[in-house]
Amino acid sequence: MDHPANIDPWLSAAEDKGVKVNWIGVDPATLTLDLTGLDDLIHDRTRLVAVTLASNAVGTVPDLRQIIQLAKKNGAITSVDAVHAVPHMAIDREEIGADILFFSAYKFFGPHIGMAVIRTPVFGTLKPYKVGPSDSRYPDNLQTGTQNFAAIAGVKAAIGFIESLGNGHTRRERIMDGYRQIEEHENRLANRIRQAFSGIEGIRLYQAPDPVMKTPTLAFTVDGLSPAEFSRRMAEEHAIFVADGHFYATRLAERAGVLEDGSWIRAGLAPYTTENEVDRFIEATRQITRTPVLPSGKVTS
Ligand SMILES: Cc1ncc(COP(=O)(O)O)c(C=O)c1O
Repeated sequence: MDHPANIDPWLSAAEDKGVKVNWIGVDPATLTLDLTGLDDLIHDRTRLVAVTLASNAVGTVPDLRQIIQLAKKNGAITSVDAVHAVPHMAIDREEIGADILFFSAYKFFGPHIGMAVIRTPVFGTLKPYKVGPSDSRYPDNLQTGTQNFAAIAGVKAAIGFIESLGNGHTRRERIMDGYRQIEEHENRLANRIRQAFSGIEGIRLYQAPDPVMKTPTLAFTVDGLSPAEFSRRMAEEHAIFVADGHFYATRLAERAGVLEDGSWIRAGLAPYTTENEVDRFIEATRQITRTPVLPSGKVTS
């Protein structure tokens, strides 16, 4: 389910230390984590459990409760990739029970800078590779020498943008209300697309069934058109950008059986996406799917 950002560094770390890696599988039919046999995967010798808060490809927000509980019971560190979730939903670290949360400001309207929120006791146990002169205390020991001050200032402004969408007396209240507004707005628009798509022949949405939580990230395929061709026509004929490909979720695309055919088309929603834009996108999709496809792969006009 994960982006390789939350897979490959752990695989390297495991190789460094000679640690065995267990995988929590994905059920390709429901695009959710398959928790059968979890007790065999997370046990008293487990050191760290890394999971995603939301899939950046298909939007699934897996239920992490059982995983985190089992990790904690066995004394393992829990690390949660919140990169895709943070732009779309308010995250309460205590509620999730994560020791480490990762996210990136550019996903929530900010500059390119990554962030890790690490519980102090865990932080104290880390011995990161670092250059001699940099401070040996946390958090400085996890950072490069000179900070990226411009980006850090940009993070403040990005958080201010979310805050500006909400009401409340305190900053926290406004940010949380801002998130409520974002969720309400984006989910309403995403549901509008989901509903319209159910009436368009040849479209297949790849998403977890209700009541599994999902971000407003819609991955789909269209019969007779490759994702790249669909995206190209969306851009050239309708001036609408949708992305195509596996979005680095190659394992998930493989399990879902779409990797070889160009994976998915992905449409995403933001707080500033309007209803009118969504309706244009739906209408454009209708037009593209209505157009016959010639055996050569070329489309008629
Ligand atoms: C779920 C998820 N994790 C990690 C990443 C990687 O983040 P970064 O680009 O900041 O390395 C992404 C980027 O798309 C992502 O969607």
